[in-house]
Amino acid sequence: MSKTILITGGAGFIGSHVVRLFVNKYPDYTIVNLDKLTYAGNLENLTDFEKADNYIFEKGDIVDKIFIAELFAKYQFDGVIHLAAESHVDRSITNPMEFIMTNVVGTVNLLNAAKNLWKGKEEGKLFYHVSTDEVYGSLGDTGLFLETTPYDPQSPYSSSKASSDHFVRAYGNTYGMPFVISNCSNNYGPNQFPEKLLPLFINNIRNGKALPVYGDGKFTRDWLYVVDHAIAIDKIYHNGKNGETYNIGGFNEWTNIDLIKVLCKQMDIALGNDEGTAEQLITYVKDRPGHDKRYAIDANKLKNELGWEPSLQFEEGLAKTIAWYLDNEEWMDNITSGDYQNYYKEQYS
Ligand code: NAD
Ligand code: DAU
Repeated sequence: MSKTILITGGAGFIGSHVVRLFVNKYPDYTIVNLDKLTYAGNLENLTDFEKADNYIFEKGDIVDKIFIAELFAKYQFDGVIHLAAESHVDRSITNPMEFIMTNVVGTVNLLNAAKNLWKGKEEGKLFYHVSTDEVYGSLGDTGLFLETTPYDPQSPYSSSKASSDHFVRAYGNTYGMPFVISNCSNNYGPNQFPEKLLPLFINNIRNGKALPVYGDGKFTRDWLYVVDHAIAIDKIYHNGKNGETYNIGGFNEWTNIDLIKVLCKQMDIALGNDEGTAEQLITYVKDRPGHDKRYAIDANKLKNELGWEPSLQFEEGLAKTIAWYLDNEEWMDNITSGDYQNYYKEQYS
C-alpha cells in the first residue's frame, strides 16, 4: 500500500540508516526526510539513495511551527518517524536550552501538526517517537530497564527526551493520537558523528591522539549495531501496537574501558600496528558531570512480541564499523575540520 512517511533527522547517524532502509525496502512509499542539517546532519550520509524516485529531502527546523504546519499540509503524511534531536549528552551539559527547543518544543510542534492533519481520520496513521534508554536514569550493578521502569532522567539531554516521551503519550491519551515509542540503548556503526565514544576514539587512534576516558572508565553501556536499530524501527512501525513502548537493546553490556581495549586491539590489526600501540593512547580525564553509571536494556518484549533480535555479534559489528571509518577517511576529515576543532578544544582541553 502506498504511504507518505515523514522521517525527521534523516541526515543524522541513526536517521540516515532508517531512511535508507525505508527507501530501499518500500518502493511504494514516499519518504520525506526533514532535517535542519545541524553540525550532526550530513548530506554525505545519503548519497547512495538521494536520487531514488520515492525519496524527497526537505531542509527545515522542527522548532519552526509555521514551516512544520505547511510541510504537513503539502505532503499529507500518513506516518511520522521522529528522530530529529540534539543527541549528545556532553553538549546538553554546556547548552541545555538548545535541547529543550529541539527535543521538547520541536516534538510538540510535530505532534500538533499531526493532530491537526489526522483529526477524525486517525485510522491507519502513526506517530513513531524514537527515544532513548537514558530516560530511565542509571542502574546499579544489577537489573535491567523494562518498559515499565519509572522515568528518572539525570542529564539535560535525557530530561528533554523524557519530556518529549511524556508529550507523545499525553497526545495519545488526550487527543487519541496513534503512537508508538521505542527506547534504545547506545548505537554504533557507520556515519556516527565523532563526538560519541566509538567514532571519536577511532578517529583519534588513526591520528595518534589521546583517548580521553572519563573518570575511572567503569561506566557500563549496552551497544547495538545501528542497522539493527533501523530494522527494529521498521518492525515496530509496521507491527507495533498503538500506544505501546518497546525497549531496543543489543543484549551486549560493556564497561567503557573493556570496550575501548577491544577497540584498540581491533584498530591495531586494521592499521597493521604492533599490538598495544593504540592502548598506549588511553588517557584518564575528568569525569562527565552527573555521569550515569550503568544502562542495560531488557529487549525481550520486542523479541517475544515482534520477533526482533540483533543480527550481529559485537566483535563482528565493531570490525565492520572500523572498516567503514577507515574506508571513508574523507567523510571523517570533512566533518572534523572547522567547527569540530573548536568543539574538541573546549570539551577536552
Ligand atoms: P544525530 O545527532 O546523529 O542526528 C540528529 C539529526 O537531527 C541531525 O541530522 C540533525 O541535523 C537533526 N536535527 C537536529 N535538530 C533539528 C531540528 N531542530 N530540526 C530538524 N532536524 C534537526 O542523532 P542520532 O544519534 O542519530 O539519534 C537520532 C535519534 O535517536 C535521537 O532522537 C536520539 O535521541 C535517539 N537515540 C540515539 C541513540 C544513539 O546511541 N545515538 C540511542 C537511542 C536513541
Ligand atoms: O543510551 C543511549 C544514548 O547513548 C543516546 O540516547 C545518546 O544519544 C547517545 O549519545 C549515547 O549517550 P552516551 O552518553 O552513553 O554516549 P557517548 O558516546 O557520549 O558516551 C558513551 C560512554 O563513553 C559514556 O559512559 C561516556 C564515555 N565517554 C564518552 C566520550 C565522548 C568517555 O569516556 N570519553 C569520551 O570522550
